[in-house]
Amino acid sequence: MKKTIKDYDLNGKKVIIRCDLNVPIENGIIKDITRIKASLKTIRYARKMNAKVILLSHLGRIKNEEDKQKYTLKPVAEELSKLLRKKVTFIDQTRGEKLEKAINNMKNKDVILIENTRFEDLDGKKESSNDKDLGQYWASLGDIFINDAFGTIHRSHASNLGIASNLPNGIGFLVEKEIKNLTKLTHKPKKPYTIILGGSKVSDKIGVISNLINKADYILIGGGMAFTFLKAAGFNIGSSICEKDKISFCKHLLDQYQDKLILPIDIITATEIKENVPVHERFINEIAEDEIGLDIGPKTLEVFKQYLDDCKTIFWNGPVGYFEIKEFSNGTKELLNIITNTKAYTLVGGGDTARAVVTFNYQDKISHISTGGGASLEFLEETSLPALDIIDEK
Ligand code: 3PG
Repeated sequence: MKKTIKDYDLNGKKVIIRCDLNVPIENGIIKDITRIKASLKTIRYARKMNAKVILLSHLGRIKNEEDKQKYTLKPVAEELSKLLRKKVTFIDQTRGEKLEKAINNMKNKDVILIENTRFEDLDGKKESSNDKDLGQYWASLGDIFINDAFGTIHRSHASNLGIASNLPNGIGFLVEKEIKNLTKLTHKPKKPYTIILGGSKVSDKIGVISNLINKADYILIGGGMAFTFLKAAGFNIGSSICEKDKISFCKHLLDQYQDKLILPIDIITATEIKENVPVHERFINEIAEDEIGLDIGPKTLEVFKQYLDDCKTIFWNGPVGYFEIKEFSNGTKELLNIITNTKAYTLVGGGDTARAVVTFNYQDKISHISTGGGASLEFLEETSLPALDIIDEK
């Protein structure tokens, strides 16, 4: 068992908490505060225990100077101040005198949020390549390190692995909850166990399919990735998305697991991806050359329902249609309705799928919504998770 924040006496200590505050921001406005809210429990606990709380997070990916303005954590500090009802001091640098002075002047229960850790990537990818000096520097700012950023638990970065290598450490409540829930899928999942996979790319899901196909009873395939499978099965997919270099992988899987992999039998198509376009319901052998498959059809939903109705465990990653556009949202919406009307333990992972859950207002009906996308998939693949493996055992 990993050490947690509860295993430390935090009184008067400088506690560095790595959060995943990577939220969508448009023109300075935060579009979804789910991840910020999910981080509050650990922050509140540290304050209650009289710690000086130093928060770190990444936001987006920083490739050039212009990205800095777009991906500053300043709006997140403001949102956090509102939610905590306590001023969160934002420091607009990732290292330097201003930061060190602010930390030296902290009183118990104060909260500081340091600027986006990935600003350090502009200078030789220091954060993302786990630069040794950077990890040591950030560690020198505190007494205890708590990793509560589940979304980056699969990364080897200076702000997680680097700091943890240099300080007494543990996990926060969010990471603890994610592990508890995801372990229900890796350790003797209750059967029947069905997985729904969607999203645009097969290449993102190769590891998870290969690992889970023997654990799950069925894998239902939807979304853009279904078309590479349909192509591999010999169908004409018109102008739908297709990863040509993954066709043979899909063909191999279909040959080996034809009773486990369930593909759509009908599709909603259009010739353009935008609102108010004419849409067509097509069987998969009827897709015209200029048509793009953008959602699963009603007959596929009936088939999928049969596989889901009696399930005891359901895992879903990746929307089954282009749900952001009303015309192509029915598949994802209806599947949410179907799975939340079963008695199954339901776990949803991945940023887009979690967003769909919130968009269609099913957040209170899903057993667990993971805050991690790639991280939850890698957890289920049971590969190593560097930023978790480094955390001390009890
Ligand atoms: C996520 O959004 O999945 C996490 O915040 C990780 O972000 P990353 O893929 O840019 O490391």
